Order: sequence, then structure tokens, then C-alpha cells
Amino acid sequence: MAAVLSQLAAPWTDETSVFGRDMLACLADKPHAISPKYFYDAHGSQLFDRICELPEYYVTRTELAIFRRHIYPMAALIGPEAEVIEFGAGSLLKARLLLDVLEAPRGFVAIDISGEHLNAACTDLRRSYPALTVTPVVADFTHPENLPLWHSTTGRRVGFFPGSTIGNFSMPEATRFLVAAARLLRGGGLLIGVDLVKDPALLHAAYNDAAGVTAAFNRNLLVRANRELGCDFQIDAFRHYAFYHPAQQRIEMHLVSATAQQVSLNGDRFALAPGESIHTESSQKYTVDGFRALATACGFLPRATWCDEAGLFSLHWLESPDPAL
Ligand SMILES: C[S@@+](CC[C@H](N)C(=O)[O-])C[C@H]1O[C@@H](n2cnc3c(N)ncnc32)[C@H](O)[C@@H]1O
Repeated sequence: MAAVLSQLAAPWTDETSVFGRDMLACLADKPHAISPKYFYDAHGSQLFDRICELPEYYVTRTELAIFRRHIYPMAALIGPEAEVIEFGAGSLLKARLLLDVLEAPRGFVAIDISGEHLNAACTDLRRSYPALTVTPVVADFTHPENLPLWHSTTGRRVGFFPGSTIGNFSMPEATRFLVAAARLLRGGGLLIGVDLVKDPALLHAAYNDAAGVTAAFNRNLLVRANRELGCDFQIDAFRHYAFYHPAQQRIEMHLVSATAQQVSLNGDRFALAPGESIHTESSQKYTVDGFRALATACGFLPRATWCDEAGLFSLHWLESPDPAL
């Protein structure tokens, strides 16, 4: 593997070389797995927006309904003059609900890995909130220590992390992120959306929609690899496969090769056997108590939790106490 990695050089730009290295590791290692962050180029972000509108995808409409019902107590807990930092901003739909009611926010920082989509969403947001300072940050939030936020002094920082994007992290990644977030947001807090353990049939439907949008979103990873890395995945020969793993309490999303195929990447060739899969995403589901315990272990004080009546989804206000106060 080290020898193969050392061959990676000139053909890729800095941006694609990180993707290239991760794809190389994915193809070289078994079982094959790659981070879901690579779904999100401009087309992937559009596909995600379509997923949010699907009848089977309860996540977005349930979270939006919880926001609409409880937005005032949420804003009261956040308090005045907060600098709001959204992780994984997407189309900024939910941020608008918050910005409509927050008292005198100092600024809004939107972090996302999907640069083109982020910049377009921030341009729209500036039009709607002309008095607000909106700062897009195209960055990978899985390395919070590298985010250009640590020295900002514009006000009390409040994190916003809706969409249950935290579910895409493994437990060690979620822990690492929450520990760093508690440090970054000291003296403020984090408003976070977390999907809950529920009837597996509902989960199965949500990740296997009838219109095939989630399947297209999943395959977009390979479309992107063919375009950006010069791979030759036979896209149509991959089946979207998403299932709920009850013991792990998570959805796993895979791309399964229906045929034997050889994939080339930067001069190397990798064989995929029929039935061999690439694990592209996990979506961890939590219980309310389980998530609050995790947040507490990471340095937060869980102060409030809001759920829908059917108990599908939860939102949490986690304070990050300032030890100096
Ligand atoms: C599940 S979507 C949620 C979008 C939006 N916050 C919502 O609630 O609908 C995840 C978002 O996080 C972004 N994202 C995924 N992985 C990321 C990473 N490692 N660093 C920064 N952004 C990431 C994606 O581009 C996408 O906009």
C-alpha cells in the first residue's frame, strides 16, 4: 500500500489528490470503504436536496417540523449576539429558520466541503439577510483543528449541526468531533439534529426510495471518481444496497459490483469480483439518552432536547461551559 501511495503524484491537483489517495486506499484495502464526504460535489449536493424532498425521507420534514414548533425556546437558549457556525451547511434551509428569530446575531459562518453549492447558498442568504455578515468556509469539518475559526473573536460562538450529519461519523469520529466542538464553542453551545433508532422498515424505505434518487446519489461517488481521478468504474454495473444493521443501530450504504470488473486508478488496476461491495456511508441512529451521554462524555452539558410526537428525530441544545466563568 505504501509503495502504491508513493506513486501518486503529478496527474492530480492538490484538491483531487486527497480524494485520489482515499480512493486508492479504498480499492487496495478489503473490505472496501470510503468517506461519504466524497458524495458531495455540486451534482451530489443537488441530489441530496432532492432526497430531502422525497416522501420516504422522513428526516428533513420531521426536523423542520420540530424547528418550527420549538424555534423560540431554541433562540432563547442560544441568546443574543451569537456568532453562528453551521457545520455541513448544505442549502441553508434550516439556518434561515434560526436566523429569522435570533436576537442580533453577530455573524454566520457556513462550513461545507461542497464549494460551488456553498457559495451559491451563501449568496442567496446574503440577499435575504443583508445586514448579516455571512462567511462561507469551504473545508473538511472532520479536521476541526484545521478550521480557520479558532482565533475569531467576534462573539459567543454557537454551533449549528442539523440533518443528523453526525450520524455519518463512526463512534470514534463522532467523539473526536464533539470534543473539538466543545472546545471551539466554549462559552456558547451546539444545536444539533440527531436521528433516532426506530422501526427498521421505516429506515429501509428512507434509504431505498422508489424514485431511485438515493441510488443515484450513491453512484455519484463513482461518477465523480471517473471524472476527477480518471477511473473507469462501470457505473451501471453497481447496485445500490442500503440496509439497517440492528446490532450496530446504523444504516449501511454500499455499492455492490454485479459483475467482475477491473478498475484503473493512476496506473494501477484493481479487481472487483461479482458481489464485492464498496461501503460508502453509514448513518448511525441514536437513542436520546445514548446521545446525551455521548455529548456529556465529550464535554457538553445537554440542556434541552426536542422530539417529534412519533419519536423519529431529536434536536439537542448542548452547552459548552466556560471554566473561567
Ligand atoms: C446530510 S447533509 C446535511 C445538509 C444540511 N445541513 C441539512 O441539514 O439538510 C451533509 C452536508 O455536510 C456536507 N459535508 C459532508 N461531509 C463533510 C465534511 N467532511 N466536511 C464539510 N462538509 C461536509 C455536505 O456537503 C452536505 O452539505
